[in-house]
Amino acid sequence: MTFRRIAADLVASDERYFELGARVDPVAGVRLAWMVGLADMLAACVVLDGDVWTDRVEVMTALDAVEERVREVGGSRVRLYLKREVSAVVEVLKDRGYSSREETGYVLPQRIEGREKVSVQPVSSDADWTQKRTLHRESPDPPDGHEVAAERWVELERRKTGPDGLSPWLILVGDTVTGTAAIMDHGALMRLKNLLVHRDYRRRGIATAAIASFGIMAEENGRTLGLFSVVGSPGDLVYRRCGMKPVARWVEWLGPPARRPSPRERP
Ligand SMILES: CC(C)(COP(=O)(O)OP(=O)(O)OC[C@H]1O[C@@H](n2cnc3c(N)ncnc32)[C@H](O)[C@@H]1OP(=O)(O)O)[C@@H](O)C(=O)NCCC(=O)NCCS
Repeated sequence: MTFRRIAADLVASDERYFELGARVDPVAGVRLAWMVGLADMLAACVVLDGDVWTDRVEVMTALDAVEERVREVGGSRVRLYLKREVSAVVEVLKDRGYSSREETGYVLPQRIEGREKVSVQPVSSDADWTQKRTLHRESPDPPDGHEVAAERWVELERRKTGPDGLSPWLILVGDTVTGTAAIMDHGALMRLKNLLVHRDYRRRGIATAAIASFGIMAEENGRTLGLFSVVGSPGDLVYRRCGMKPVARWVEWLGPPARRPSPRERP
């Protein structure tokens, strides 16, 4: 598989992830993927395809419609992804106070060795979900960097879990749960999502060892392990240190908190 193809698959796998367990509304030429009851979480209310807009006036009108719809479904801010930089879109987003964050897509080109011995086990029983919830509660660092309560994060992952969707795993050292991550098959890619290592167990090579294990699992299924991370984040440092190869990028734009109409503005 070429890196160009894999880059496209990586972006497509992220789009699919956002759509899992979500309603997908067409709004002003783009797709709004939002999850009922969770839409105030940034991971559960995402605008895809923002790069279809081209003209400045079109962007302004379209963004008005999108911001309105995000407010209607209970979203806290507009989170919009651009696969390519369209200057008219970027100018309007900046004018409106949106800020951007670049994400890099990586693949694991070869097997790696971890210095820590870990095992990975799927989250399947209620007891597994309880262990996962405890881990998130004790280490409330959302893998996407957007603040959220542990319970709601786990609820989001649970609603995305299924035979054609996400498959969450626990990462253990001996019998101790030290981390979690999810995987999702997408074409020739085995997509890794939402890696989290317990705060008490960081910098011992657990993330690296988990990537090594998932890399072997991907290879045994004839797939390549791939993921995205925010540029400059701890995840980014881990993946580079593991020898993962950067092959894709996309950019998240985050709007200012949704402005609710004041009582005087309400009809
Ligand atoms: C990012 C995270 C998964 C790393 O887990 P970890 O088990 O501590 O990572 P490793 O021990 O395998 O780190 C491997 C190397 O990456 C680099 N690294 C990892 N975390 C780092 C940090 N916080 N700052 C700087 N470098 C870091 C180091 O080079 C490290 O090797 P070293 O400890 O020998 O110097 C963990 O910090 C975490 O769960 N963070 C919150 C959630 C998150 O950001 N997830 C990533 C989503 S993309």
